[in-house]
Amino acid sequence: MTPEKKVLFVKIGLGLIVASMLVGYTYVWVQWVDLEAARESALILNNYYRARHGSAPLTRNADLDMIAQMCALYYRDYVPGGSIDHSCPYWRSGYNFYFSEGIGECGGGSPTGSPEHLWTNIEIGEGNTWMLYKEIYNYNFSNFKTDLETHPRTVLHFTQVVWRESKYFGLGMTTYRSKKGIGMVATLFYYPSGNLITDDWAHFLMNVRPVLKDAPALEGWKKQY
Ligand SMILES: *[C@@H]1O[C@H](CO)[C@@H](O)[C@H](O)[C@H]1NC(C)=O
Repeated sequence: MTPEKKVLFVKIGLGLIVASMLVGYTYVWVQWVDLEAARESALILNNYYRARHGSAPLTRNADLDMIAQMCALYYRDYVPGGSIDHSCPYWRSGYNFYFSEGIGECGGGSPTGSPEHLWTNIEIGEGNTWMLYKEIYNYNFSNFKTDLETHPRTVLHFTQVVWRESKYFGLGMTTYRSKKGIGMVATLFYYPSGNLITDDWAHFLMNVRPVLKDAPALEGWKKQY
């Protein structure tokens, strides 16, 4: 091989490496932008709902985001139908390095809509937040002990969203194709965890406050919900 040819091959090789790095970085960047849209929109709506109850806004947390994303992928890959059965090990204290107290895990697993109208990432962030918060319709503030004792599963997402002592927020989400169409898994993480259960339910009285008198009336997130 002539020296000129050798130089040419090296140049082609370097060119290929640079091109594949660009493709790789762009791919990672696009994924990151997607997730960011879902996370920001979920955070804003969470804090809007919290404000209705006089709870301080949550703050984004990168470690929670990471654990949430690991769990979204876990539910997609290991739980039939991608349903959130809270079996993801990564968020439990003892399994994760960052958080010693419990993390509150809420999730939504549902179709992202018909193929003609796939949810955008903003809609995924907002839609999942609304699905948790709308359980307020099942919660009677004058009689919440009965609600918690008789139908906890229909109120405990709502109580986590507005829980006063929760400070940080993280979100993970992924979409996938299944036989039924396009599926979506979103996990919303809160720290410190809400829903602290004691015999007298006292923590709920402190942390889940009624809607403030001057709060704007609740409008559903979208007509179909
Ligand atoms: C909420 O509970 C109070 C006290 O038990 C009761 O009087 C009221 O009717 C309940 N409200 C609804 C909407 O069920």
